[in-house]
Amino acid sequence: MRIDILTLFPNMFVGPFGESITKRAIDRQLVTIAIHNLRDYAWDKHRIVDDYPYGGGPGMLLKAEPLFAAVEAITGGEETPVILLTPQGRLLCQEVVEELATHERMLLICGHYEGVDDRVRQHLVSDEISIGDYVLSGGELAAMVVVDAVVRRLPGALGSEASVAEDSHSDGLLKYPQYTRPQVYRGWEVPPVLLSGNHAQIAKWRREQSILRTLRRRPDLLEKAKLTDKEREMISGRGIEG
Ligand SMILES: C[S@@+](CC[C@H](N)C(=O)[O-])C[C@H]1O[C@@H](n2cnc3c(N)ncnc32)[C@H](O)[C@@H]1O
Repeated sequence: MRIDILTLFPNMFVGPFGESITKRAIDRQLVTIAIHNLRDYAWDKHRIVDDYPYGGGPGMLLKAEPLFAAVEAITGGEETPVILLTPQGRLLCQEVVEELATHERMLLICGHYEGVDDRVRQHLVSDEISIGDYVLSGGELAAMVVVDAVVRRLPGALGSEASVAEDSHSDGLLKYPQYTRPQVYRGWEVPPVLLSGNHAQIAKWRREQSILRTLRRRPDLLEKAKLTDKEREMISGRGIEG
């Protein structure tokens, strides 16, 4: 996969992409990430990328010309998903991450100030993504979130693919509770079934816990979750208390 990122703040990406799973995926050549400075595509003397909004109002907008020039130069006219990070986009969830992870290439545009000239949204981008219903100062942190979530879905990026299959949101449920040593900490004991060595019992307990945890914390997820008829029956009488 190749990911291009267009930003006014290239240095913000140095730390996050130089550590952990994203760094390992880059080192293993599972992904190439190229960071482009939007100012390099502003050809006036002062390399201006923003201007006042028509009609008045506070703040500045990113201008259309440098954004079009940058995207056209970076993609070279190739068909590439061009994704604008914006609080007005479709919400990022695991389903959207899985969809993005199927692309061979994508270009992420980080907005700033009051956002971008709307002609960018109308005529340049093919997708708009929000990482949540709140407003960030710029699209950089949102782009990092998208990249992190997508890169860990690339085959070979994680130590164990099995951990992905059981992650929260992978099958519409939250993950079951987990414990590690010591067996007793401050008098709090690890559930005995996890020490039993009975793999069938452990799997059954984990599945139940996963369903109950989702019922208590995120009942909205259960509608789309992959549950058996028996499991649906089990939760139907329990209500929010589980
Ligand atoms: C201050 S925000 C602009 C918000 C814009 N005035 C509005 O009300 O929709 C500046 C930039 O941060 C990014 N941004 C802010 N919140 C975001 C979110 N929830 N998800 C993705 N990007 C976001 C976008 O790139 C946006 O252009």
